[in-house]
This record gives sequence, structure tokens and C-alpha cells, in this order.
Amino acid sequence: MAIMPGNSSQPSSLTFQPVLERIATEIAQTPGRGRPADYIPALAACDPRRFGMAVAELDGTVYGVGDWRQPFSTQSITKVFTLALDLAREGDALWEHVGREPSGNPFNSLVQLEYENGIPRNPFINAGALVVTDRLQTRTGDAAGTLLEFLRAESGNERLAFDRDIAASETANGDRNAALAHFMASYGNIDNPVPVLLDQYFLQCSIAASCADLALATGFLARHGIRADGGRLLSRSQAKQINAIMLTCGTYDAAGDFAYRVGLPGKSGVGGGIIAVVPGRCTLCVWSPGLDDRGNSVAGVAALDRFTTLTGLSVF
Ligand code: DON
Repeated sequence: MAIMPGNSSQPSSLTFQPVLERIATEIAQTPGRGRPADYIPALAACDPRRFGMAVAELDGTVYGVGDWRQPFSTQSITKVFTLALDLAREGDALWEHVGREPSGNPFNSLVQLEYENGIPRNPFINAGALVVTDRLQTRTGDAAGTLLEFLRAESGNERLAFDRDIAASETANGDRNAALAHFMASYGNIDNPVPVLLDQYFLQCSIAASCADLALATGFLARHGIRADGGRLLSRSQAKQINAIMLTCGTYDAAGDFAYRVGLPGKSGVGGGIIAVVPGRCTLCVWSPGLDDRGNSVAGVAALDRFTTLTGLSVF
């Protein structure tokens, strides 16, 4: 039977917590958690049994279970926020430089770029995220700093910071991202010097934040573009557009399976986090570092799958 949050006899604050606790118990009993990312040595040491999950309501009320206050490496989750920050500044002109179609390829794939003249399929594969960060860098002079300031403001957590060890580890293992950036530069689709862009991109990915922080920071996508302080970041239509791209591209070549199982816009990172949006209702973040072979958290997808099944909250 579905557990519906927010029914008239009980405030919604009382109904999310038992759902989260039930999911955590079920997840703890589920064997097989995948493996932490090992291409960034600083991430390989994470314990795949860690698990945290948070739900934030539109007014900023947050519920959580397990390691929901533990900071972890946000990685590709940040691609949602740089996309929002750039789209807010340049609007539809962005889409001349990056597409909006699922790639069906791994997040760090190079192959489509040559066929498609240096225009990445979407903003969430690495090539597309590099284009977005490059454009945000051109507009702000400090893409990673602009992102960090935004995340601090939306989460209310001034302690959010770059993890310089993770960024250095990525720089030392960054040949593939460097190749993507140089290749796109050869098509004139990168404005800044590639080393400057890579520094910004690796700093962006290194930001450490908790499930609570990220559930809160994602709130503008559930509030149709409205920030935590009531100001507007995106038009209602732009918020819809980002949610749609998360649904179709946010979990790479597993996006179809994620939509089938979870039924929400979501975005994963190789740190083991996934954010998800229930437009008009709430936002979620789940973290567990064990990944499947497509780079998505095994327990994270399972937990979101259970959340939408138990609550009936999905976009479908
Ligand atoms: O570009 C990279 O390799 C990482 N910094 C981010 C990758 C990532 O999180 C992809 N997600 N699943």
C-alpha cells in the first residue's frame, strides 16, 4: 500500500521520516552494493556500506536517515547547478553549443563528438558539462566560485568547500577530460584556455556536500525556478527544461532504466550521490558510494525506486 505524504489528517513532516527509515532498513538488508569509483584514487577509499538519504520540502524543511549529514564528493551532480547558472545568464543561446539528447554512451565517452562536429549531446555527459562550465567561466570569470557561492546560499551551509585533494587527484588523472576539452576547442566550441577550464571543472566536481545540503540546494527545481530566498533564478519553463534533461540524460546510458524504476528527474555523480526532483512537492538526495558499471550508485537508485513506490510521488 502506498504511504502518501501530506494527507489532511497528518502534517507531511510526520510522514516522510517513516518512509526514509523503512527504506534505510530495506537497503541495509540488500546485499551487493557495487564498487566505489577507482579512477579517482581519493574516491576509491570510500566504504560502499555508507548510506544516507534526505528529503527537503519546498519550504526548506529537511528529513533524513543514515549518513544524511555526512559530506561526500558531489562530482557530476554539480553539472545540474552549473547548467542552471549558465542558462539563467545566457538563455537559449547555450543550445547552439550543447544538445539536449540522451547520448546512450558512457559519461566520459569521446566517440560521438567527432561525428557531431564538437557539439556534445547533452550538458550532463562530461563533454557537455565542460562546455557549460566554459561558458559560465566566460560570463563570471570564476565558474567554480560562482557555483560554490550558489550552493552555500541554497543549502544555508556556509561551510561547503572545495576538496583540493580530490581536485588534485582528478587533475593528475585528467587525460580523458583534457582530450574532450581540446577536441571541442579544435571545433571552436571552447572559449577559455583548456588548462583554465579543466581547473574550474575539477574544482566544481570536488565540492563536498551532504545529502541534506544537496536536497536543499536542488529546491529551486521543485519550486519551478524560485531560489531559497524567494528570488527567481530560472523561468518556470527553464526549470521544466532542466528537469526534463535530468530525466532523459541525468544517469547517462542508464537514464532509461532510471526513468523506468524511479520515474523522477535525477542526476548522479561518481561520488555515489544522486539528486532527484518531485516538481511542486520536494527534492531528494541519496548517497552510497558503491557504483554500478555505468557509474550510478547501486543503493542510491534502489532507495529512490523504493521512495517513489512507497509514496506514489513520481512525475508519471
Ligand atoms: O569528469 C569526471 O570524471 C568526474 N569529475 C565527474 C564524473 C562523474 O561524476 C560522472 N558521473 N557519474
